[in-house]
Amino acid sequence: MIRLDHVVGVRQFDRPLLDALFALACEMEGLVAAGDAKRLRGRILATLFFEPSTRTRLSFEAAMYRLGGEVLSVESGRETSSIAKGETIEDTIRIVQGYADAIALRHPEEGAAARAVAVARVPILNAGDGAGEHPTQALIDLYTIGRELGRIDGLRVALVGDLRYGRAARSLALLLSETRDTEIVCVAPPGLEPRPDVLGWLDDRGVRHREERDLAAVLPGVDVVYQTRVQRERFSGESPAGGGGAAYAIDEAAMARLPSHAIVLHPLPRVDEIAPAVDTDPRAAYFRQANPGLSVGRALRGACVVSSPLTGCGWLAGSW
Ligand code: NCD
Repeated sequence: MIRLDHVVGVRQFDRPLLDALFALACEMEGLVAAGDAKRLRGRILATLFFEPSTRTRLSFEAAMYRLGGEVLSVESGRETSSIAKGETIEDTIRIVQGYADAIALRHPEEGAAARAVAVARVPILNAGDGAGEHPTQALIDLYTIGRELGRIDGLRVALVGDLRYGRAARSLALLLSETRDTEIVCVAPPGLEPRPDVLGWLDDRGVRHREERDLAAVLPGVDVVYQTRVQRERFSGESPAGGGGAAYAIDEAAMARLPSHAIVLHPLPRVDEIAPAVDTDPRAAYFRQANPGLSVGRALRGACVVSSPLTGCGWLAGSW
């Protein structure tokens, strides 16, 4: 049985919980495909978004509907909610929790989800808090790795791009500490390297990691490339990376260096860091990663209220 309260960051997930959650997500996918997934009937999720989003908000909402639940949505909260009149996030949460059974929150300030949790009596799902964390994206990412490669252990993962301000890569790096025999290779432009707390977390847990600058040299030795967008909205003026970002792009030449079994992931939206010509390569897994079927995994966070007996699932057999 899985019981989750709030989902604020990935540090709250240990390996047994991850294994159980992924098994449940897999089971839910089967139920959704069979049109037999109504376990959130009568439940309401509020999505409170104060930053732009396509995938995260819509996949939370789609997952809720597919599981028989319903949704209340604030889409451009900075302009359209009472926050624009000066209401604090705490007061907003106090009100919205009267209308919903769980709240998915995206906010530009790091720590906003923790502030919400401090006053909430319904589960809070952090859908991104500034440059802080994006735990549900990292769960989807790790789940996708398992689905694509058949395992989440014993992999060499290159995290590429903006590892300083990118919350998705930051959460994934932290979450990878729950996998075994993993090596993380960080390939960031100067000024966008991972923050010391992430590296310290990996060190404390004995996760092998190194920083490299030459993406072309790294590619032949990795199983997963996790590419990310430079988060221009998080700094004023020029990118700390200057114009050097192009050296970190994945194009056909980069793909030629990548092993045939490897995959390329990206939390999306993609700007220019993956060339469109790469999209048809079978190793380009970023659209599969955003597949609506995976959104049931996100619904599980909305389903903090739901417990389920676990059943086996094809791709979870074997090394899992
Ligand atoms: C990411 C985010 O918002 O942090 N997108 C997402 O939720 N899938 C990544 C990004 O904006 O670059």
